[in-house]
Order: sequence, then structure tokens, then C-alpha cells
Amino acid sequence: MSLRKIARMGHPVLLERCLDVPDPTEPLIRLLAADMVETMLDANGIGIAAPQVHETLRMIVALPIRERGDDRDVAPLVLVNPTIAPLDEVRESAFEGCLSIPDLRGVVSRWHRVGFQALSLDGKPLEGEASGLFARILQHEVDHLDGVLFPARMHDLRSLSFTSELHHQLRPQGVAS
Ligand code: NI
Repeated sequence: MSLRKIARMGHPVLLERCLDVPDPTEPLIRLLAADMVETMLDANGIGIAAPQVHETLRMIVALPIRERGDDRDVAPLVLVNPTIAPLDEVRESAFEGCLSIPDLRGVVSRWHRVGFQALSLDGKPLEGEASGLFARILQHEVDHLDGVLFPARMHDLRSLSFTSELHHQLRPQGVAS
């Protein structure tokens, strides 16, 4: 396993539409998954998508956590060729960041609950439901597979903030929008 270089906003690899992984059981895919996990944890991230490490494949890693800070002892979930769909109409706005956009946060509206389908590294179908932060991570990472970064999802760019300035905010919003 090794750390991979994280592409930052402005690198064209982050704007590409990624391709399906033909065979999730390939050793190179397993290696990529291990490297993505290592790179994400090293950068203190809670999710990462393959294009962020310069691989235009439909593959993500997400921590299935309810809240930031819950991430100790949680096994990262590797999803190959993931698809997601909202389970109801409820949306939530909250600050979001990205390993490819260091030190910046912005308020993004996401579905509160989503269902996901994917393949595991064994090539087996994997499906489940996610809500709250976990659902937000999945939506953020799947966006990466289509070349979408979170600022493109922001309704109001005025909330784009340096992380170190966020303490000036009264309270990050967590309400339906
Ligand atoms: Ni990101």
C-alpha cells in the first residue's frame, strides 16, 4: 500500500466522467482501494473518490459515520460502480469540505436519506441505506465520479469559507431547505 497524490481543484482529472470498473476483483483494483483508504485516512478525510487520486474509475471509499468525530474504529466502505437514489424528499443543508479543495467549506444541500447499490471488491452486489452525514459523503463522492465538485452544488456562494474562519458562523445549518 502507498499514499497517492491527491488532485486539487483545477486539475482536469477532477472534471472527467469516470468509467465503470470492468472487474472489481482485479488485483490492481484491490490495490487502488487500499491506497485510497490509506490516502483518505492520512489526509484526515471521511470519503474519497478514485479521480481524486488520478484514476478515472467509478470507485469510492466512504466512512459510514453519523457525525464527524465518530470515525474511530469504523471500517471504511469501498464501493465499486456505485449508484445512489434518494429515499424520500427530505433535503439537508450543511457545510461540506473536500480533500481536493483544502481548507475551504461551503453549505451544500443534499438528500437526507439515500439508498445505494454497488459491487464489493469480491464482485458481489452490495446495497444499503444511508442517512445524514453518511448519505452526504456518498452523494459527494458519487458526484466526483461525474466530475462534479461541491462548489458546483452550492446555491449561495457566500457561504464559501476558509475552515479557520468558520468559528464566526453562529451555527452551521442542519435544517431542511
Ligand atoms: Ni471531495
